[in-house]
Amino acid sequence: MKKTSITALVIALSLILTAAAVSCLRDGDELSYTIGLSQCADDAWRRKMNQEMQMELLFHPEMKLEVLSADDDSRKQSADIDYFINKKVDLLIVSPNEANGVTDAVSRAYDAGIPVIVADRRVNGDKYTAFIGGDNVQVGVLMAKEVEKLLPEGGKVVEVLGRHGSTPAILRHQGFHSVIDKNNSIKVVHEVRGLWHEEIAEHCMDSVFALDKDIDVVVAQNDLMAMGAYNAAAKLGIAERMKFVGVDALGGKGNGVEAISDGKLDASVSYATVGDLLVYRASQILEGENFPKDTLIKSVVIDKATADVMMLLSEEIDHKVETINMLDSRISEYLDTSRMQKVVLVLLGFIVVATAVFLVYYIRGYRERKRMYDELVQTQKKLDEANKSKLDFFTNVSHDFRTPLTLIAYPLEDLEKSEHLTLEERSNVKLAIQNANVLLRLINQTLDFRKIEDGKMELVRYRVDLCECMQQWTQAFKGLCTKKHIHFSYSAQPDADYTIGVDVYKVERIFYNLMANAFKFTDENGTIRVELSRVGNNICFSISDNGPMLNVSQIHNIFENFYQADSKRSDGSGIGLALVKSLVTLHGGVIGVEVNEKRGEKSFNVSLPIPPDTSTLPTISEISRIDSQQVLTELDDANDVEEEVVSVKEDQKLVLVIDDNKGLRNYVRSVLEAGGDYAVQTASNGAAGITKAVQTVPDLIICDISMPGMDGFEVCEKLKSEVNTSHIPIIMLTAYSLDEQRVRGLEGGEKPILPSRLTLMCS
Ligand code: FRU
Repeated sequence: MKKTSITALVIALSLILTAAAVSCLRDGDELSYTIGLSQCADDAWRRKMNQEMQMELLFHPEMKLEVLSADDDSRKQSADIDYFINKKVDLLIVSPNEANGVTDAVSRAYDAGIPVIVADRRVNGDKYTAFIGGDNVQVGVLMAKEVEKLLPEGGKVVEVLGRHGSTPAILRHQGFHSVIDKNNSIKVVHEVRGLWHEEIAEHCMDSVFALDKDIDVVVAQNDLMAMGAYNAAAKLGIAERMKFVGVDALGGKGNGVEAISDGKLDASVSYATVGDLLVYRASQILEGENFPKDTLIKSVVIDKATADVMMLLSEEIDHKVETINMLDSRISEYLDTSRMQKVVLVLLGFIVVATAVFLVYYIRGYRERKRMYDELVQTQKKLDEANKSKLDFFTNVSHDFRTPLTLIAYPLEDLEKSEHLTLEERSNVKLAIQNANVLLRLINQTLDFRKIEDGKMELVRYRVDLCECMQQWTQAFKGLCTKKHIHFSYSAQPDADYTIGVDVYKVERIFYNLMANAFKFTDENGTIRVELSRVGNNICFSISDNGPMLNVSQIHNIFENFYQADSKRSDGSGIGLALVKSLVTLHGGVIGVEVNEKRGEKSFNVSLPIPPDTSTLPTISEISRIDSQQVLTELDDANDVEEEVVSVKEDQKLVLVIDDNKGLRNYVRSVLEAGGDYAVQTASNGAAGITKAVQTVPDLIICDISMPGMDGFEVCEKLKSEVNTSHIPIIMLTAYSLDEQRVRGLEGGEKPILPSRLTLMCS
């Protein structure tokens, strides 16, 4: 699976599961109805009504109730209703303060399509959905009948009325008078407005008692006002001889039933709060069920006897309500916890799914990587095996060469000692010995290199003064420097201790190899500098020359196995510097190459650590330098520029031999001169060859292809472009036997400037 599709899958899963988690946090049952309740006031009776509604709503979790109270102010109540209209509530319940003041607002809600239930008090007209309330006319009738019961002999009555514009006040008054007016012995001597409030009623009754204390019964349109009247009478000490009748008969502390039980009131007409019925009706309307438009609840009279029973029942009911409330909050807590658990479960599910997806992806990726890694390991193994078998072959061949070569070199050395050799024979034998030794040295280097690579090369450390060694070793190069006109200098940082424990033969090889390298690349009149110093616990030496510079890639690869900085040059297999690096590393040292553009110098820097146990190592008296001496001899021969005087007899042809190998030059010369037909002149490099060719215009040129500096192809091209030399036939010599080398030679020969004269000879 692709990385992008995995990411998309994880994002999709996250979104789905987050949505699921959020939905878990919401109520299990979706809230679908908002009900607005506009209350005209906030007193005990209204609070009981609200409480009943809340209790009933426990069975209707689909409904949410919002309550606003108008505090006996019709204008405020109209504004509250408008608020609910704007809010687009699903249903409105209004208990109007006054019929006139609130009718318009209720009509607006009804016209806006909001179902309206009018509760307790009525509005004008019929723009409402349903009405539920007490039968206030019946309440008035019951009030009158109770007064008659209390005054069988007749007497004086004060009627305390509620708010004038409210329908209960009007209807209760009507009902009361429909009975009392027919009773001739009972006289309503005063009517006062208590506006449903205890304190206001008390003030009214203070005024009444100030005029007339001879009152038998105070009948009030609610218990609150009846108690206000009682308080006024009590203040005057006349309460005991009077009777007080109210309406509502609410249970609970400080309400009507308690007042009857306490003997303050004599009776109260019950007036239902209808909260539960209102919610029930609302649900019927919202669910589209049938319902009656007007519902009137009948009342009964509560006197001392029933009040005591009601008190008991009321306590019991209060207790039950408390229990229900407690259960409700427990259920809410439980629901919250269970919702939380659901969220946790969903999130856990998400984590499990995400982890599974990730694991599948990871395992797949891991398998893929493992498969690729295994393939790589296999390929590397095969490569290593191939490389090893190549190296094994190389090593075996080198071993095979060593014995025959030794058996060539030793008998030749014996032969050289013979007194019966001609001068020419002695020279040939010497040439053969030298070349056998070159081969032996190269083979030994190859085998040593392999030994180091295989970890089989061991160091035999001696305690030596490296400064003394350097003096000896550099001394050996002095003669060569003079011959080649090379400015050579050796300097050592003074007052330093150069005692070190090293395998001195191997360090000598390091030094000679680096010196040989410097000599090979330094032209006549060049400079070679050797510097020795001590830095902390390391002895460092550097060999600098001002030969051709190295570029960045050459610097990086110079110590790689078989790397040749100049691929055109044939003066080495590239193993020398690789071997040097291995030998330095074997000593725990470091080698690096540095180019100083300003001075036009490159330096090979070697740092060798002084081992801690140097003082306990054995010393060495004399250092034999057989192998190193061979390097010197080779360098000496290779760079020997001979001054020659060639005399050409009349019947002789002049042949110019251009080759950087002195032995080969001399050998070709001896072969050609043997018959007496040829006079031979030689040149050790391309540039010298061209100069001599131009000067002497030979009859034939024999030129080596691989030479340092100007190679054979370049020499050939230059000579062919010169008018004086363009006619001279050239034989190209090469040690390369590969087809591609032959092809390159032939390609050069096909140039128009070199028509058929170029001959390629493979030696
Ligand atoms: C409460 C109340 C009751 C009364 C009813 C009449 O606000 O005054 O005491 O019975 O309103 O609507």
